[in-house]
Amino acid sequence: MTNDKVYLLTFGCQMNKYDSAMVAGLLRDAGAVFVENAADATLVLINTCSVRAHAEERVYNHLHLLKGRKRHTPGFVLGVMGCMAQKEGEKIAARFPWVDLIVGTRMLDQLPRLLARVRDGAPTPLLAIEEKAEISFGETLARRELRFLSYLSVMRGCNKRCTYCVVPHTRGVEASRPIPEVLAEATRLVDDGVIEITLLGQTIDTYGRDLRDDTTLWKLLRALYPIRGLKRIRFVTSHPRECREELFATMAELGDKAMPFVHMPPQSGSDPILRRMGRGYTRQRYLEVVAAARTLCPEVEFCGDWIVGFSGETEEDFAQSLSLLEEVRFQHGYVFKYSVREGTPAQKLPDDVPAAVKQERHARLAAAQEKISLERNRSRIGVTEEVLAEGPSKSNPRRLTGRTRTHRLIHFPGEAALIGKLAAVKVTGATALSLKGELAGC
Ligand code: 5AD
Ligand code: SF4
Repeated sequence: MTNDKVYLLTFGCQMNKYDSAMVAGLLRDAGAVFVENAADATLVLINTCSVRAHAEERVYNHLHLLKGRKRHTPGFVLGVMGCMAQKEGEKIAARFPWVDLIVGTRMLDQLPRLLARVRDGAPTPLLAIEEKAEISFGETLARRELRFLSYLSVMRGCNKRCTYCVVPHTRGVEASRPIPEVLAEATRLVDDGVIEITLLGQTIDTYGRDLRDDTTLWKLLRALYPIRGLKRIRFVTSHPRECREELFATMAELGDKAMPFVHMPPQSGSDPILRRMGRGYTRQRYLEVVAAARTLCPEVEFCGDWIVGFSGETEEDFAQSLSLLEEVRFQHGYVFKYSVREGTPAQKLPDDVPAAVKQERHARLAAAQEKISLERNRSRIGVTEEVLAEGPSKSNPRRLTGRTRTHRLIHFPGEAALIGKLAAVKVTGATALSLKGELAGC
């Protein structure tokens, strides 16, 4: 048992958010409480991300800032977990000896036990970065920010070797959870009030492949569909090489519960760059997946990640990214400037696009996306959307904020009683980032 007051800071992707919520669930089950301010905490845990240099630098800043706190507060425990712990554990221990606990991505289920060892006086920093294949949170329920929304990790790791990416080093090889196990967790979540589940996998389309028993993502969707009380199922992240027509056919068939929103990063629109990135598909293949999806499931919308300024990217290559973005007409996109990651294959390639050019391409791609997002959002004006009301709007507490089936943010006037429920909202206005609407009925 622990009577810690915990402050948990999370960087990075949805997988990290899930891991944090599960670790928080374990600590809560062990008696911990959670505080809003690091200053009130007896235990500060940082769940880290290694994907881009910027996220790592922010973690190092936090560790420096917490040095004084550690020195002056008896019994205060500082822990680092997740991708940086996995990749840089030994370096962190040497550079920040005031850190007590360093827990890698595959040891997170052990966190309460490791914390107890620190509390019992084990030498610190205590380093736990073994790469065990299985990680099991048992029957723990995630400690969720919103009671009705949850992530659910269906697989860990990644077997791809995109040359720029650090994930295979930080999260190891692919390991899928069998359908009955996912079903059991989903059922526990729904019994606990969840109505929308987002299934997580680094390349969700290869879910089940390592189980060698014909398990697939679409079979999992079918298995989850009958859970009463589960209203919405989402999944991330899709891979253009692995995404299959069966998935879209299943989504169309399960229309009311399978949300028609696909986050499928192209990274680049240029074949030579895609080859250098080791992505395993061409621009043509990307377009074919989108076309098949739109034929089978016309409601579907796409979201993309882009890397600009990758090694060797010419103005012509970049123009191909711009034109792919315009051809697909993504609903939303995230643009990143290439940053070299240690230990990746691309580290050996020259980082030869000047920072100013990366910056300029970033701005141009983001502006092109913004224009398309605005046009696509405007095309929803007059349509009645099914919206899950998530909470009061940040800018105007008399309004509610929710998400449409295609994950668009929408603000509308409504009673707090609607929070956590599905509502029909007629769209009356749009910006590039969100919609505005009026209740059309409940
Ligand atoms: N530099 C810049 N962006 C990166 N991403 C992954 N690795 C890098 C890197 N080295 C981006 C990709 C990925 C997203 C999560 O982060 O676009 O889809
Ligand atoms: Fe990284 Fe590529 Fe795996 Fe995505 S698919 S996590 S970009 S290696």
